[in-house]
Amino acid sequence: MSSTPAGPTPAKGGPIRSICCLGAGYVGGPTMAVIADHCPAIQVTVVDLNEARIAAWNDQDLACLPVYEPGLDAVVGRCRGRNLHFTTAVEAAIASADMVFLSVNTPTKTRGIGAGQASDLRWIEASARQVAACAQGHTIVVEKSTLPVRTAETVKAILTAAQGAGGQKTFSVLSNPEFLAEGTAISDLEKPDRVLIGGEEPEAIDALAAIYGHWVPAERILRTNLWSSELSKLTANAFLAQRISSINAIGALCEATGADVREVAKAIGSDSRIGSKFLSAGPGFGGSCFQKDILNLVYLCGHYGLQEVANYWQQVVELNSWQQHRIANLVVRSLFGTVTGKRLAVLGFAFKGDTNDTRESPAIRICLDLIEEGAHLAIYDPKVASAQITADLGQAEAGQDQGPPQPGQGEGRWQLAPSAREAASGADAVLILTEWREFQQIDWAGLAASMRQPAWLFDGRAIADTAAARAAGLNVWTVGEG
Ligand code: NAD
Ligand code: UGA
Repeated sequence: MSSTPAGPTPAKGGPIRSICCLGAGYVGGPTMAVIADHCPAIQVTVVDLNEARIAAWNDQDLACLPVYEPGLDAVVGRCRGRNLHFTTAVEAAIASADMVFLSVNTPTKTRGIGAGQASDLRWIEASARQVAACAQGHTIVVEKSTLPVRTAETVKAILTAAQGAGGQKTFSVLSNPEFLAEGTAISDLEKPDRVLIGGEEPEAIDALAAIYGHWVPAERILRTNLWSSELSKLTANAFLAQRISSINAIGALCEATGADVREVAKAIGSDSRIGSKFLSAGPGFGGSCFQKDILNLVYLCGHYGLQEVANYWQQVVELNSWQQHRIANLVVRSLFGTVTGKRLAVLGFAFKGDTNDTRESPAIRICLDLIEEGAHLAIYDPKVASAQITADLGQAEAGQDQGPPQPGQGEGRWQLAPSAREAASGADAVLILTEWREFQQIDWAGLAASMRQPAWLFDGRAIADTAAARAAGLNVWTVGEG
């Protein structure tokens, strides 16, 4: 897609001196920070339309970064102001970049064609148009966002239209999906199982591989065609999510039969063909991507006339929703069939431990079901703020002046608690919904003494010291334990 370059950026095939990343989110921020850390000779500029987010990335207090990831503050502290910059000056950053990463959001469409399944590509299209308008010389455009297979066709069409006859600007398009998981983003980026680069032009692929080559062994940098790369990302997430739905399905059968899902997971995971990772039963998978990426895969299969394949993957999502409702239902059933006016302590609201991200967290659906039943939830999470829970539950925190719940009365509501101990005080049950390490160390004797009896522990993550909880007089349900 190129001819003679001009402008401040170097000729095609020249070294990359300057990178711009569109999107300063959970992927753009940490990924660019690690690139900047390993490539001090490259200027890395992360841009976003969201001014508050950029301001937070520039906050002098590294505890205020908009993304909480263990180790991220140290990397940002080393590079920011040196060769890592966060700004809202999108146009200038694109103009001076040799390579532009598109790391914008790609959520599920909520209306129109494909609503509820297809990816909403408005941000990817807008960012491609911005690059088309502002780029100078030769620019390598890298799809970092997770995208439906063949999106590079769209990106290329937009960029090609901007090339013009004089060849003042030229483009190469690559797909380089990101496989980091939240909570372990920095270690995943530092030691990736693989880096995947899909493309058609060897020079562009080499330029991106050279950047990763600063710290990733060459044999871990995989090269494919564009479409394999785009599809591999959706497929990886679908396979991972499928394992969770599979183990949760077996967990329910364990509960019914007296088997223990942890023993079953260990037994099957010892088979090297199956492997031991990603076999923890829980309240269902959350996070911004698994559900949206599988739904996208379902939509694509339908689009290509593969309805049986679409149905197969759809079932992974259905099982996940079922698991979340199942847990809320069994809490209600165990508490004598009603939770109206009862205080329930919810420990953990993030979708997994070590992150402040609540997107699609199983806690949201479980809390909503319990609030619908009239429960008064006392929610404690070490990293999630009240405003986020308000947004997720669509309901503001109840005022402290509303007083203690009157059993049997009142609408469902929620309040934030400052600790697990205070959440449990006066509660009929404790629900563990996120695997924060501190929940493994709870002093159950102390906690149980402050609860209303008979009291329950519902351990949705199978992490608590249930022997201590039982010894403290609690009734205990553990996910997947018969
Ligand atoms: P995010 O919502 O945290 O961040 C995206 C950012 O892009 C937002 O801050 C938004 O304001 C910004 N943005 C949108 N349009 C823009 C534009 N034209 N110019 C500049 N900024 C713009 O999303 P995320 O979690 O970082 O995910 C980004 C992509 O990476 C998605 O496709 C996602 O599927 C994929 N992904 C996410 C993860 C993860 O762990 N979150 C992991 C792998 C892949
Ligand atoms: C996931 C993938 O692991 C990443 O490779 C991918 O890049 C990312 O999605 C993405 O595309 O966004 P993430 O969602 O951040 O990463 O976190 P995971 O560790 O995969 O956990 C996802 C959900 O599954 C969490 O709710 C977690 O609690 C749950 N889970 C995970 C289980 O219930 N059991 C397990 O054994 C593992």
